[in-house]
Amino acid sequence: MKECKHLAIIMDGNGHYAQAQGLPRTAGHLVGSDNVRTIAIAAEELGVEYLTLYAFSTENWKRSMEEVKYIMSLPALFFKKYMKEFMRRNYSMHILGEMDALPEATRNVLIEAVEESKNNTGLHLNLAVNYGSHREIILAAKQYAKDVKEGKASEDLTEELFESYLMTKDFPPVDLLIRTSGEQRISNYLLWQIAYAELEFVPESWPEFTPEVLKRCIEEYQTRDRRFGGVTK
Ligand code: IPE
Ligand code: IPE
Ligand code: MG
Repeated sequence: MKECKHLAIIMDGNGHYAQAQGLPRTAGHLVGSDNVRTIAIAAEELGVEYLTLYAFSTENWKRSMEEVKYIMSLPALFFKKYMKEFMRRNYSMHILGEMDALPEATRNVLIEAVEESKNNTGLHLNLAVNYGSHREIILAAKQYAKDVKEGKASEDLTEELFESYLMTKDFPPVDLLIRTSGEQRISNYLLWQIAYAELEFVPESWPEFTPEVLKRCIEEYQTRDRRFGGVTK
Protein backbone atom coordinates (compact mmCIF):
# COMPACT_ATOMS: atom_id res chain seq x y z
CA MET A 1 0.00 0.00 0.00
CA LYS A 2 1.34 3.43 -0.96
CA GLU A 3 1.78 5.29 2.27
CA CYS A 4 0.69 8.87 2.77
CA LYS A 5 3.20 9.90 5.37
CA HIS A 6 2.80 13.64 5.03
CA LEU A 7 -0.63 15.08 4.31
CA ALA A 8 -1.09 18.82 3.84
CA ILE A 9 -4.51 20.46 3.74
CA ILE A 10 -5.63 23.93 2.68
CA MET A 11 -8.63 24.26 4.98
CA ASP A 12 -10.78 26.52 2.82
CA GLY A 13 -14.46 27.45 2.77
CA ASN A 14 -15.28 28.28 6.39
CA GLY A 15 -16.79 31.61 5.38
CA HIS A 16 -19.02 30.27 2.63
CA TYR A 17 -20.14 27.39 4.84
CA ALA A 18 -21.37 29.83 7.48
CA GLN A 19 -22.87 32.32 5.03
CA ALA A 20 -24.85 29.55 3.33
CA GLN A 21 -26.60 29.07 6.67
CA GLY A 22 -27.17 32.77 7.24
CA LEU A 23 -24.46 32.86 9.90
CA PRO A 24 -21.49 35.24 10.18
CA ARG A 25 -18.18 34.04 8.71
CA THR A 26 -16.77 33.68 12.22
CA ALA A 27 -19.26 30.88 12.96
CA GLY A 28 -17.64 28.92 10.13
CA HIS A 29 -14.20 29.41 11.62
CA LEU A 30 -15.39 28.00 14.93
CA VAL A 31 -16.83 24.84 13.33
CA GLY A 32 -13.71 24.66 11.18
CA SER A 33 -11.39 24.75 14.17
CA ASP A 34 -13.28 21.90 15.83
CA ASN A 35 -12.93 19.93 12.62
CA VAL A 36 -9.15 20.08 12.98
CA ARG A 37 -9.42 17.66 15.89
CA THR A 38 -11.78 15.33 14.00
CA ILE A 39 -9.59 15.20 10.92
CA ALA A 40 -6.34 14.87 12.90
CA ILE A 41 -7.69 11.73 14.54
CA ALA A 42 -9.00 10.37 11.24
CA ALA A 43 -5.70 11.08 9.49
CA GLU A 44 -3.76 9.34 12.24
CA GLU A 45 -6.02 6.31 11.91
CA LEU A 46 -5.34 6.27 8.16
CA GLY A 47 -1.59 6.09 8.78
CA VAL A 48 -0.65 9.74 8.31
CA GLU A 49 2.40 10.73 10.37
CA TYR A 50 2.61 14.42 9.51
CA LEU A 51 -0.51 16.56 9.10
CA THR A 52 0.21 20.13 8.01
CA LEU A 53 -2.81 22.44 8.06
CA TYR A 54 -3.08 25.92 6.57
CA ALA A 55 -4.83 27.91 9.26
CA PHE A 56 -3.91 31.53 8.44
CA SER A 57 -1.89 32.88 5.53
CA THR A 58 0.36 35.92 5.29
CA GLU A 59 -2.33 37.32 2.97
CA ASN A 60 -5.23 36.75 5.40
CA TRP A 61 -4.38 39.97 7.28
CA LYS A 62 -6.30 41.73 4.48
CA ARG A 63 -9.57 40.60 6.05
CA SER A 64 -11.69 42.71 8.40
CA MET A 65 -10.22 43.39 11.81
CA GLU A 66 -13.19 41.63 13.35
CA GLU A 67 -12.57 38.42 11.40
CA VAL A 68 -8.81 38.42 12.01
CA LYS A 69 -9.34 39.06 15.71
CA TYR A 70 -11.77 36.17 15.91
CA ILE A 71 -9.45 33.75 14.10
CA MET A 72 -6.60 34.77 16.42
CA SER A 73 -8.77 33.96 19.43
CA LEU A 74 -9.42 30.41 18.26
CA PRO A 75 -6.15 28.69 19.25
CA ALA A 76 -6.82 29.40 22.94
CA LEU A 77 -10.29 27.88 22.70
CA PHE A 78 -9.05 24.98 20.59
CA PHE A 79 -6.22 23.90 22.86
CA LYS A 80 -8.34 24.40 25.97
CA LYS A 81 -10.82 21.90 24.54
CA TYR A 82 -8.44 19.38 22.99
CA MET A 83 -4.91 19.62 24.39
CA LYS A 84 -5.47 16.94 27.03
CA GLU A 85 -6.69 14.55 24.37
CA PHE A 86 -3.78 15.39 22.06
CA MET A 87 -1.36 14.65 24.90
CA ARG A 88 -3.11 11.35 25.57
CA ARG A 89 -2.84 10.54 21.87
CA ASN A 90 0.86 11.45 21.94
CA TYR A 91 0.56 14.19 19.26
CA SER A 92 3.32 16.73 18.91
CA MET A 93 2.34 20.23 17.84
CA HIS A 94 4.44 22.41 15.55
CA ILE A 95 3.89 25.89 14.17
CA LEU A 96 4.93 27.09 10.73
CA GLY A 97 4.90 30.82 10.15
CA GLU A 98 6.16 33.99 11.72
CA MET A 99 4.87 34.03 15.25
CA ASP A 100 6.29 37.46 16.08
CA ALA A 101 3.50 39.17 14.18
CA LEU A 102 0.73 37.38 16.07
CA PRO A 103 -1.12 38.92 19.01
CA GLU A 104 0.82 38.10 22.14
CA ALA A 105 -1.93 35.96 23.67
CA THR A 106 -2.23 33.86 20.50
CA ARG A 107 1.52 33.43 20.28
CA ASN A 108 1.74 32.33 23.91
CA VAL A 109 -0.97 29.71 23.49
CA LEU A 110 0.77 28.28 20.43
CA ILE A 111 4.21 28.26 22.06
CA GLU A 112 2.76 26.51 25.08
CA ALA A 113 1.15 23.77 22.97
CA VAL A 114 4.44 23.18 21.14
CA GLU A 115 6.42 23.16 24.37
CA GLU A 116 4.04 20.84 26.21
CA SER A 117 3.97 18.28 23.42
CA LYS A 118 7.59 18.43 22.30
CA ASN A 119 8.55 14.99 23.63
CA ASN A 120 5.55 13.24 22.09
CA THR A 121 6.27 10.76 19.35
CA GLY A 122 2.88 10.29 17.67
CA LEU A 123 1.20 12.32 14.92
CA HIS A 124 2.96 15.58 14.08
CA LEU A 125 0.17 18.15 13.98
CA ASN A 126 1.59 21.16 12.18
CA LEU A 127 -0.37 24.39 12.06
CA ALA A 128 0.57 27.03 9.51
CA VAL A 129 -0.29 30.34 11.14
CA ASN A 130 0.81 33.58 9.50
CA TYR A 131 2.49 31.33 6.97
CA GLY A 132 3.28 32.15 3.35
CA SER A 133 5.61 30.21 1.13
CA HIS A 134 7.22 33.27 -0.45
CA ARG A 135 7.98 34.71 2.95
CA GLU A 136 9.38 31.35 4.11
CA ILE A 137 11.73 31.18 1.11
CA ILE A 138 12.86 34.79 1.56
CA LEU A 139 13.61 34.19 5.23
CA ALA A 140 15.51 31.02 4.36
CA ALA A 141 17.57 32.84 1.70
CA LYS A 142 18.37 35.70 4.07
CA GLN A 143 19.49 33.37 6.86
CA TYR A 144 21.57 31.31 4.44
CA ALA A 145 23.30 34.44 3.11
CA LYS A 146 24.03 35.53 6.66
CA ASP A 147 25.43 32.11 7.56
CA VAL A 148 27.69 32.10 4.49
CA LYS A 149 28.96 35.57 5.35
CA GLU A 150 29.75 34.45 8.87
CA GLY A 151 31.43 31.27 7.64
CA LYS A 152 28.76 29.05 9.21
CA ALA A 153 27.45 27.57 5.95
CA SER A 154 29.05 26.28 2.79
CA GLU A 155 28.81 28.45 -0.33
CA ASP A 156 27.94 25.32 -2.24
CA LEU A 157 24.16 25.46 -1.82
CA THR A 158 22.41 22.14 -2.36
CA GLU A 159 18.71 21.29 -2.19
CA GLU A 160 19.27 19.52 1.12
CA LEU A 161 21.09 22.49 2.59
CA PHE A 162 18.38 24.92 1.44
CA GLU A 163 15.67 22.68 2.88
CA SER A 164 17.38 22.87 6.25
CA TYR A 165 16.51 26.59 6.29
CA LEU A 166 12.80 26.08 5.62
CA MET A 167 10.13 26.02 8.31
CA THR A 168 9.44 22.39 7.40
CA LYS A 169 13.05 21.30 7.89
CA ASP A 170 12.06 18.50 10.27
CA PHE A 171 9.33 17.08 8.03
CA PRO A 172 9.44 14.76 5.00
CA PRO A 173 8.18 16.09 1.64
CA VAL A 174 4.41 16.39 1.21
CA ASP A 175 2.84 13.25 -0.30
CA LEU A 176 -0.68 14.56 -0.76
CA LEU A 177 -2.09 18.09 -0.77
CA ILE A 178 -5.85 18.46 -0.42
CA ARG A 179 -7.72 21.75 -0.85
CA THR A 180 -11.31 21.90 0.28
CA SER A 181 -14.14 24.10 -1.00
CA GLY A 182 -13.63 23.79 -4.72
CA GLU A 183 -10.97 26.41 -5.44
CA GLN A 184 -8.14 25.04 -7.53
CA ARG A 185 -5.14 27.05 -6.43
CA ILE A 186 -2.28 26.83 -3.97
CA SER A 187 -2.55 30.30 -2.36
CA ASN A 188 1.12 30.55 -1.37
CA TYR A 189 1.22 27.23 0.52
CA LEU A 190 4.30 24.98 0.75
CA LEU A 191 5.50 25.78 -2.78
CA TRP A 192 8.87 24.12 -2.34
CA GLN A 193 7.54 21.16 -0.37
CA ILE A 194 4.81 20.12 -2.85
CA ALA A 195 7.20 19.72 -5.79
CA TYR A 196 6.12 16.08 -6.19
CA ALA A 197 2.97 15.96 -4.07
CA GLU A 198 -0.25 14.56 -5.49
CA LEU A 199 -2.98 17.22 -5.58
CA GLU A 200 -6.68 16.82 -4.81
CA PHE A 201 -9.37 19.47 -4.87
CA VAL A 202 -12.65 18.56 -3.21
CA PRO A 203 -15.95 20.48 -3.35
CA GLU A 204 -16.76 20.12 0.35
CA SER A 205 -15.97 23.14 2.51
CA TRP A 206 -13.61 22.56 5.43
CA PRO A 207 -16.42 22.25 8.04
CA GLU A 208 -18.04 19.65 5.76
CA PHE A 209 -14.82 17.72 5.24
CA THR A 210 -15.55 14.53 7.18
CA PRO A 211 -13.38 11.50 7.96
CA GLU A 212 -15.30 9.70 5.17
CA VAL A 213 -14.27 12.35 2.63
CA LEU A 214 -10.68 12.11 3.87
CA LYS A 215 -10.77 8.35 3.49
CA ARG A 216 -11.95 8.76 -0.10
CA CYS A 217 -9.11 11.21 -0.78
CA ILE A 218 -6.54 8.77 0.58
CA GLU A 219 -8.06 5.96 -1.49
CA GLU A 220 -7.82 8.15 -4.58
CA TYR A 221 -4.19 8.88 -3.68
CA GLN A 222 -3.50 5.12 -3.50
CA THR A 223 -4.53 4.80 -7.15
CA ARG A 224 -2.10 7.50 -8.35
CA ASP A 225 1.07 6.48 -10.13
CA ARG A 226 3.85 8.54 -8.57
CA ARG A 227 6.70 8.55 -11.03
CA PHE A 228 8.95 11.35 -9.70
CA GLY A 229 10.18 11.95 -13.21
CA GLY A 230 10.94 8.28 -13.84
CA VAL A 231 9.09 5.68 -15.85
CA THR A 232 6.64 3.12 -14.48
CA LYS A 233 7.82 -0.44 -14.92
C1 IPE B 1 -10.54 29.20 5.36
O1 IPE B 1 -11.84 29.60 5.10
C2 IPE B 1 -10.00 29.76 6.65
C3 IPE B 1 -9.04 30.85 6.50
C4 IPE B 1 -8.53 31.29 5.38
C5 IPE B 1 -8.61 31.54 7.71
P1 IPE B 1 -12.18 31.00 4.45
O2 IPE B 1 -12.34 31.99 5.55
O3 IPE B 1 -11.21 31.35 3.41
O4 IPE B 1 -13.59 30.71 3.82
P2 IPE B 1 -14.10 31.12 2.36
O5 IPE B 1 -13.09 30.62 1.40
O6 IPE B 1 -14.21 32.62 2.36
O7 IPE B 1 -15.42 30.44 2.25
C1 IPE C 1 -5.94 29.91 1.86
O1 IPE C 1 -7.28 30.25 1.76
C2 IPE C 1 -5.45 30.16 3.25
C3 IPE C 1 -5.98 29.28 4.29
C4 IPE C 1 -6.78 28.28 4.10
C5 IPE C 1 -5.52 29.56 5.63
P1 IPE C 1 -7.76 31.68 1.25
O2 IPE C 1 -9.23 31.68 1.34
O3 IPE C 1 -7.05 32.75 2.00
O4 IPE C 1 -7.24 31.68 -0.23
P2 IPE C 1 -7.69 32.54 -1.49
O5 IPE C 1 -7.62 33.98 -1.08
O6 IPE C 1 -9.07 32.12 -1.82
O7 IPE C 1 -6.71 32.17 -2.55
MG1 MG D 1 -11.06 31.02 1.43
